[in-house]
Amino acid sequence: MQIKSTKITLVGAGRIAFHLGKRLQAKGLRVVQVLNRSEGPARNLAGILRCDWSDDWSALDPEVDWVLLAVRDDAIAEVGAALAPFANTALVTHTSGATPGTVLAPYFERFGVFYPLQTFSGERNPVWSKVPFCVDANVPQDVVFLRKIAKVIGNLVYQVTDDQRAVLHVAAVFANNFANHCFAIAEKILEEKQLPFEMLHPLMEETLVKALQDSPADMQTGPAVRGDVETLQRHLHWLQQHPAWQTLYRELSVSINPALDLSATGKSRKKK
Ligand SMILES: NC(=O)c1ccc[n+]([C@@H]2O[C@H](COP(=O)([O-])OP(=O)(O)OC[C@H]3O[C@@H](n4cnc5c(N)ncnc54)[C@H](OP(=O)(O)O)[C@@H]3O)[C@@H](O)[C@H]2O)c1
Repeated sequence: MQIKSTKITLVGAGRIAFHLGKRLQAKGLRVVQVLNRSEGPARNLAGILRCDWSDDWSALDPEVDWVLLAVRDDAIAEVGAALAPFANTALVTHTSGATPGTVLAPYFERFGVFYPLQTFSGERNPVWSKVPFCVDANVPQDVVFLRKIAKVIGNLVYQVTDDQRAVLHVAAVFANNFANHCFAIAEKILEEKQLPFEMLHPLMEETLVKALQDSPADMQTGPAVRGDVETLQRHLHWLQQHPAWQTLYRELSVSINPALDLSATGKSRKKK
C-alpha cells in the first residue's frame, strides 16, 4: 500500500478519532470518511476533517484500504461484526491498549492494532514525536504499512504482540492513572488545609525528571523506604478520617518497603 494514496475510514468520533484524524490529515494522509454510532459527533468530526460521514455501518466505503476503529474497548467486537459484511479486503485495526487484536479475527482477513501509548483528552494537542505507537497485524506486510504510517505521523514505533500489550497496559495504568490519582489525593489533602496545590508542582516535576533519568526504584525517597515508623504512624493516624486513602497509604508503603508491618489500626511497627 502506498502511504499517501491510502484511503482511510475512521470509525468512532471520540478523542482518539479526533486526534488521529487531524494528525493523519495534517500529514497528507487521506481520511475519506467518518463512521460513528451517533450522528452528531460523526458530523462534527467529518466537518473538521472535511470528509464524508455516516451513522450507518453499511455506508463503509468499499474501496478504503484501512479502517481505523477508534471506539470504546467493549464495542470493538460488536462494531467489527457490524462492519464485516462491507469491509472487503481492507486492513482493519483498533486503537486499544487493553484489547487483543485477535478480537477482529472472526470478522476480517487482515486485522491488527494501532495503539498510541499516550493519554489524549479534549483539544489538548499531543507532542506526536513523543507518542510511542504500538503496532501489530496478522499479515507481515501490514505491520510494515502500520510502521510507516506511525513514522509519518509520529516518531516512535514498536511492534508489540497482544500478550506484550496486555501487560504494557497494566504498566501504563500504574505510570499514568495511579500516579495521577495520587496527585489528585495530594491536591485534596492540601485543599483541606487551605494550601495551594502549586506548592507541590516542583516536587512532582523533580520526581518525574528523576524517574526518567534513572530507575524509579533507585530514586525512591520518603518515610516508607527509610523505615521511619514514627512518621508513618502519624500519617496513618491523620488519614483515619479518609479510610480509603489510609488503606492506599498503607498498601503503597508496604509495597515500597516489604519489611514494614503496618497494622490495620493506623499503628505501625517494623518487622523484626
Ligand atoms: N483517550 C485516550 O487517551 C486513549 C489512548 C490510547 C488508546 N485509546 C483507545 O482508543 C479507543 C477509543 O477511545 P476514546 O478515548 O477515543 O473514547 P471516547 O472519546 O469515549 O469515544 C468513544 C467512541 O466509541 C463509540 N462507541 C461507544 N460505545 C459504542 C457502541 N456500543 N457501539 C458503537 N460505538 C460505540 C462512541 O460513539 P458515540 O459518539 O455514539 O458515543 C465514540 O465514537 C479505545 O479503545 C481506547 O482504549 C484511548
